Amino acid sequence: MLASGARIASLRLESRIGRGGMGEVWRARQDGLSAPVAVKLLHADPARREDRARAFLVEAQSVAALDHPHIVSILDFGLLTEEEAQGVGLWPGCPWMATELLTGGSLRERQPSGWPELRGWLEALLDALAHAHARGLIHRDLKPDNVLFDDAGVLRVVDFGLVLQLDKAGTEAPFSGGTPVAMAPEQLSGDWRRQGPWTDLYALGCLGWRLATGRWPHEAAGLPELAAAHAAGRLPPFVPRLALPDGVEAWLRALLRPAARSRPAPLLAASFPARPQRGGPRLAAEGGAARAQPSPGGGLHPQPRRLALARLCTMAAAGAEQEAQRPDAAALAPTRGLAGVP
Ligand SMILES: Nc1ncnc2c1ncn2[C@@H]1O[C@H](COP(=O)(O)OP(=O)(O)O)[C@@H](O)[C@H]1O
Ligand SMILES: [Mg+2]
Repeated sequence: MLASGARIASLRLESRIGRGGMGEVWRARQDGLSAPVAVKLLHADPARREDRARAFLVEAQSVAALDHPHIVSILDFGLLTEEEAQGVGLWPGCPWMATELLTGGSLRERQPSGWPELRGWLEALLDALAHAHARGLIHRDLKPDNVLFDDAGVLRVVDFGLVLQLDKAGTEAPFSGGTPVAMAPEQLSGDWRRQGPWTDLYALGCLGWRLATGRWPHEAAGLPELAAAHAAGRLPPFVPRLALPDGVEAWLRALLRPAARSRPAPLLAASFPARPQRGGPRLAAEGGAARAQPSPGGGLHPQPRRLALARLCTMAAAGAEQEAQRPDAAALAPTRGLAGVP
């Protein structure tokens, strides 16, 4: 049982602020500094201890490899000493990680006030995914609980606990798990050799559908039924709870195609509906993504955003290459766009 007041390196734990499937997150303060940080620790539960510790190391390495305004930043990392382990009720050598503290709550507690806000969130997530994918990292657990906000309302993707490192894929199975309502068929089947950037894009489709409608695209009582629904890909009618421009539904439906190779990764950014213009919402078929503007959810400047969107395209092409090299996976057609969007 972890307790407040326990120490790890120069950090003093204050109070628990979050709990997920893998671990606990504590608010902590560094000696001599007033700004608090977040410290993530594994659950004390000894089951699958070694697997979890290995996955945690991979998580910390992955977060450290990323540097993006919409991805949580790592501040410190270490392995518990004997004394520290005793203080927090874990085992010596157990990994821990300190990150920036995000105090604005998660996407689970938020509903978009309208299309501009939802669009800003989706763009921020696309940017964050583009950045991770360009570095060969597939998040695999994108869901409302894992999208947090800082005190200025800027969104961050957290929790790389299920990350798939594409450069390691083929050598070792990644830690398994996930959130079935937001999982692509290739992830639900457990076939990690078929997973790639497209797997996160499917999760983004689930998240977008949920934010737009208040429901998950597929809802079922049991896991087998849910997995079958994702695999069949028969989506319910799209009933948004906010006014959306034409094209959003088609964009989401395209992300939610069960066959990974038919998800429109490369042209996704270019097909993304543009900021509503004077005279009503319009689609970005005429190049909305290239005319990048600061996003309301993100506060990104145009230049990095353009770069990140360009990376999304590169990433998809690179992903296709990687996928083609993996033994039993089909290549993602790198030029497939968003069919049917005006
Ligand atoms: N940097 C952070 N700042 C504030 N709260 C956080 C931070 N990181 C995680 N949390 C909270 O802790 C919860 C669990 O953290 P997470 O990294 O998602 O762990 P798990 O892998 O166990 O799901 C999150 O859902 C969130 O509520
Ligand atoms: Mg989590």
